Amino acid sequence: MSRTIIISNRLPVKISRTAEGELSFRPSEGGLATGLGSIYKEGDNLWIGWPGIHFQDEEEESFVKKELLKENMLPVDLTTEEIKLYYEGFSNETLWPTFHYFNQYALYKKSYWQSYERVNQKFCDAVLAVANPDDTIWVHDYQLLLLPDLIRDKLPHVSIGFFLHIPFPSFEVFRLLPWRRQLLDGVLGADLIGFHTYDDMRHFLSAVSRICFLSNHHGQITKDGRIVEIDAFPMGIDYDKYARSSAAPETLSREVKYRTSLGEVKLMLSIDRLDYSKGIAARLQIFDLFLEKYPQYQGKVSLLMVVVPSRDSVDKYKDLKEEVDLLVGRVNGKYGSVNWTPIHYFYRSFPLEDLSAFYRIADVALVTPMRDGMNLVCKEFVASKLDQKGVLILSEMAGASKELSEAIIVNPNDKHQVRDAIKKALEMSEDEQVKHMEIMQATLKKFNIHHWVELFMQRLDEVNQKQLKM
Ligand code: UDP
Ligand code: G6P
Repeated sequence: MSRTIIISNRLPVKISRTAEGELSFRPSEGGLATGLGSIYKEGDNLWIGWPGIHFQDEEEESFVKKELLKENMLPVDLTTEEIKLYYEGFSNETLWPTFHYFNQYALYKKSYWQSYERVNQKFCDAVLAVANPDDTIWVHDYQLLLLPDLIRDKLPHVSIGFFLHIPFPSFEVFRLLPWRRQLLDGVLGADLIGFHTYDDMRHFLSAVSRICFLSNHHGQITKDGRIVEIDAFPMGIDYDKYARSSAAPETLSREVKYRTSLGEVKLMLSIDRLDYSKGIAARLQIFDLFLEKYPQYQGKVSLLMVVVPSRDSVDKYKDLKEEVDLLVGRVNGKYGSVNWTPIHYFYRSFPLEDLSAFYRIADVALVTPMRDGMNLVCKEFVASKLDQKGVLILSEMAGASKELSEAIIVNPNDKHQVRDAIKKALEMSEDEQVKHMEIMQATLKKFNIHHWVELFMQRLDEVNQKQLKM
């Protein structure tokens, strides 16, 4: 029977070892895992990826494999060296900064690249061990850019889709990568390549034209006698899941608990992985500017800031953690009083019930990344607002800003603009809040995650039909 095999670096379940040496299974954070996590189990589908730990021995490996298989997942084991060179190294110290326009942070190391090649081959072997020629293969994200072509080489007629969950930078930035040609050739092994936004798609096409000398016709390229189609598919969320969770009794009781402890202040919310692309440090500076310029809000508004630990062995992430800790301490020390804490800062992840309670309780969501492929947090905030009250401040650098034009759209580098947007959001009338929220909810309800998967899969099918007629 034909099925879809999803492949991403990280599985939607993250396994870690507790202090007592026990294995703990938790849902993974990040838009890829939370977005696709609710739909991949349909039918006989399979998800191949890294479970987050390196197996101690064969017994542990076979136990984990058995547990994951119950949930349609197949683990790929990465050695400590591969985690260092391929995951932390090439993926997160070379590609991640470059693709997010932080190219001054990028490291270009041959050892990273060689490991990236080897691990992509390892994923390919894992796929080939289980795939049938009539399966549909769906590869995800920047950690596996070489995989489509590696699979194509062994299964020339299999249907392969690729989706990039992060921005694709303009040619002038992409060209800085010494391995730019290999990366493009790798991804062009797919039949259909998807991006969150039209701009990402255009940047990719321009890189392909300048580096591989392949021109496109309406997003269609012909390479080695095969058609490759490129298009934008903005990813949605599981809207009903967030709306349902927002109405659940457990969420409501957590909301009451938080509201009681926070007291009668207005609440702003931010939720991100600890990542320099998310603009966390700048946001703290902006909150400082806001309290300074509008002292009437001191004691009246707090920022609830959830920062989820991420990639904490990578230097730039370690540095950022220190910077954020320092800034939070500075603002709280400067303005705080016995009965008011300006910033409630949590450096950990939360289960859905808590996230839903935070979304419900927040008057304003402050989503101000410097660069973000899509950003699902802002969509989850909107879906959770069952009474349609609340204001979204959204960075124009997030892919989501293209769909959510009813938000207050800001440039995160313009600190004074964001500072004043906070005031505007806090003072917006309820009628106006409802008006904007209604429009955003209608969009997100329609273009939800199911719609996204259907659209991508349908298009992949169409490309394959064309392929057959060639
Ligand atoms: N998230 C989570 N646990 C937390 C905080 C966040 O699972 O404690 C989820 C959040 O609900 C969202 C995802 O992590 O679905 C973050 O996705 P987004 O696209 O906003 O950013 P990314 O982390 O993928 O860059
Ligand atoms: C982003 C990336 C994902 C990644 C996630 C979490 O959403 O697009 O590919 O899985 O961040 O990062 P991590 O490095 O922990 O997998």
